Amino acid sequence: MQSVEEIRTAQRAKGPATVLAIGTANPSNCVYQADYPDFYFRITESEHLTDLKRKFQRMCEKSGIKKRYMYLTEEILKENPNIRAYMAPSLDARQDMVVVEVPKLGKEAATKAIKEWGQPKSKITHVVFCTTSGVDMPGADYQLAKLLGLSPTVKRLMMYQQGCFAGGTVLRIAKDLAENNAGARVLVVCSEITAVTFRGPSDAHLDSLVGQALFGDGAAAVIVGADPDTSIERPIFQLVSAFQTILPDSEGAIDGHVREAGLTFHLLRDVPGIISKNIEKSLVGAFKPIGITDWNSLFWIVHPGGPAILDQVEQKVALKEEKMKTTRHVLSEYGNMSSACVLFVMDEMRKKSLEEGKSTTGEGLDWGVLFGFGPGLTIETVVLHSVSTI
Ligand SMILES: CC(C)(COP(=O)(O)OP(=O)(O)OC[C@H]1O[C@@H](n2cnc3c(N)ncnc32)[C@H](O)[C@@H]1OP(=O)(O)O)[C@@H](O)C(=O)NCCC(=O)NCCS
Repeated sequence: MQSVEEIRTAQRAKGPATVLAIGTANPSNCVYQADYPDFYFRITESEHLTDLKRKFQRMCEKSGIKKRYMYLTEEILKENPNIRAYMAPSLDARQDMVVVEVPKLGKEAATKAIKEWGQPKSKITHVVFCTTSGVDMPGADYQLAKLLGLSPTVKRLMMYQQGCFAGGTVLRIAKDLAENNAGARVLVVCSEITAVTFRGPSDAHLDSLVGQALFGDGAAAVIVGADPDTSIERPIFQLVSAFQTILPDSEGAIDGHVREAGLTFHLLRDVPGIISKNIEKSLVGAFKPIGITDWNSLFWIVHPGGPAILDQVEQKVALKEEKMKTTRHVLSEYGNMSSACVLFVMDEMRKKSLEEGKSTTGEGLDWGVLFGFGPGLTIETVVLHSVSTI
């Protein structure tokens, strides 16, 4: 008879969790930031608020965003006046959209990740699905499993309403699942659609306007597993360690509430300041055990919550400009897609590294950090190790 210890050992993987594939997807409707203030004030019938429109133009100009993708089109918005208002009952209409569209967009990203992975879907043992765009029962994890035709015994975890830091959380959870279950292959999906937060402008709620200038729609999927079979699987990054921290004196700095009017969003001006003040503590906690103290020796994958966050983090730890290049590129091309963003940055980084002939998937460097920032304020820190491209 086997002992409990022997059973336990046999249940665990041997090596660290690795990212084995990445896929991304966006709705087809592309919105250019330079045109957006005109569109937004016209569609919300707010053209008379000329000062507010000029402020919104300044926010858009300083957003670091060139374009975003949005499920909501002019036609859909015209049909839904309550979504266009600042505060009108509209939760049913929003829910009807996202309950269908969030799993669908997630499926698109997951299909690409599965294709890159190259293995049959039946080998997926776990699903971790994350969204802040609507809630439902059974959840988007269940809908995704149905849409993809996954095994009915796939073990699902649904994470609703976590906000922007959760791109780090999903990796932390997937790492634990993969390392504690030999042979596990975890499909992780983050899918976000701004139909829950879109609303017209109000000069009494400027933080809401910041959200309207920054958020975009997108989904990203990764497959995580330990002990890869390198004859058929190609690791992209190793997930070495992961941490979650609530920042001191940050209560209420970012929050959101599901109301009849949809998901309302609140943001204090000092968010970039609070995050940057605490960032070094997270770096020291994560990298001291490895013996790394030079933050410029790392590759950086950061949640692009807004350019002010990236600027202040960069300044605080004296980062070279090129460290945030991939993160800023994703912000510019897609906007702030909440939890999905860091996985887009991860995808962009490994592609660019290969294109530019770098020796590792992490811009030629060995060690990297991934940061998620969001409500709480919460920081997720993931220590990554790159893989050789040669
Ligand atoms: C919004 C943002 C792009 C503006 O860029 P910036 O370089 O800070 O530029 P400014 O300070 O000139 O801000 C532009 C306008 O937005 C206003 N503004 C900026 N942040 C604001 C906030 N949190 N609430 C209300 N208004 C805000 C400013 O007062 C300014 O108005 P003004 O032109 O009438 O003076 C930038 O502040 C940013 O990235 N903020 C972080 C957003 C964030 O916290 N995201 C977290 C989501 S995870």
